[in-house]
Amino acid sequence: MKIKKAVIPAAGLGTRVLPATKAMPKEMLPIIDKPAIQYIVEEAAKSGITDILIIISRGKSIVEDHFDRAPELERKLLESKGKEELYNSIVEISNLANITYVRQQEPKGLGHAIMLAESFVGDEPFAVLYGDDVIIGEDPAIGQLCRAYEKFGKGVVGIKEVPKEMISKYSSMKVEHICENYFNVTDMVEKPSPDKILSLYSILGRCVLPPEIFGILKNTAPGAGNEIQLTDAMKVLARGEGMTGVDFTGTRYDMGNKLGILKAWVEVGANHPEFGDEFKEYIKEFAKTLK
Ligand code: UTP
Repeated sequence: MKIKKAVIPAAGLGTRVLPATKAMPKEMLPIIDKPAIQYIVEEAAKSGITDILIIISRGKSIVEDHFDRAPELERKLLESKGKEELYNSIVEISNLANITYVRQQEPKGLGHAIMLAESFVGDEPFAVLYGDDVIIGEDPAIGQLCRAYEKFGKGVVGIKEVPKEMISKYSSMKVEHICENYFNVTDMVEKPSPDKILSLYSILGRCVLPPEIFGILKNTAPGAGNEIQLTDAMKVLARGEGMTGVDFTGTRYDMGNKLGILKAWVEVGANHPEFGDEFKEYIKEFAKTLK
């Protein structure tokens, strides 16, 4: 079955990026000239997703404005000479997908946010793209996961190995290699203590879920951080019929923490079509001054 619907949870408080995120949603923080969430919507659109539900919260209406038409700005660009390309790129943002919104009234966790997507999703499998995880690559990451869903017919998680000292901040998967970059995932744990680590494979920002996840979420008690954890619900799927892990290709930037944002700016900046070469020269010169 082709996956056509996606959910982007973007209602978190972004406390790790304060004070930048006091009034500005972290999902709207740019990498150079594009907000993180636009990279994510573009990735979904390139993967064949046509309908997207973005979960927002109080103070995040700016996300809706970004994906809406902007008549005054568009008129101004049309009247100015040599701005056709910019005009087209601005209009294109509002045509990427059919986007709707729902508000999460309290930040009770990623699992709680996903529950709000039940009526949008209906009885179909759907993609989830975490609103602060930007993944850049030739082959869109969520498209790789959707193909795995079609191939194996089970829920899919995007996984990558993380350094041992970092795993306690992420989730940890019990995996068996199937073939190529595909794995069977038979168990998982969120933010494991050292004795609970199952492997260094962690879910990084993307999954494809069957609609059965909603029934499981309703019976999921608050877990780590007293939040309803999506990982706790996916664990039920993993332990039951199993899930497929895809060690996806592409570079992931965590826009939910300050160092992640900094790395995104440097790496995306160095590859920027307009001024990448100039920026690389600057970095090389600057690196010489580092001790
Ligand atoms: P995070 O746990 O990274 O987001 O969730 P957070 O809660 O904003 O982080 P900190 O710890 O306060 O800095 C991953 C994604 O899930 C969304 C976030 O917006 C982010 O895109 N999320 C998280 C929700 O939509 N609702 C929630 O209750 C929690």
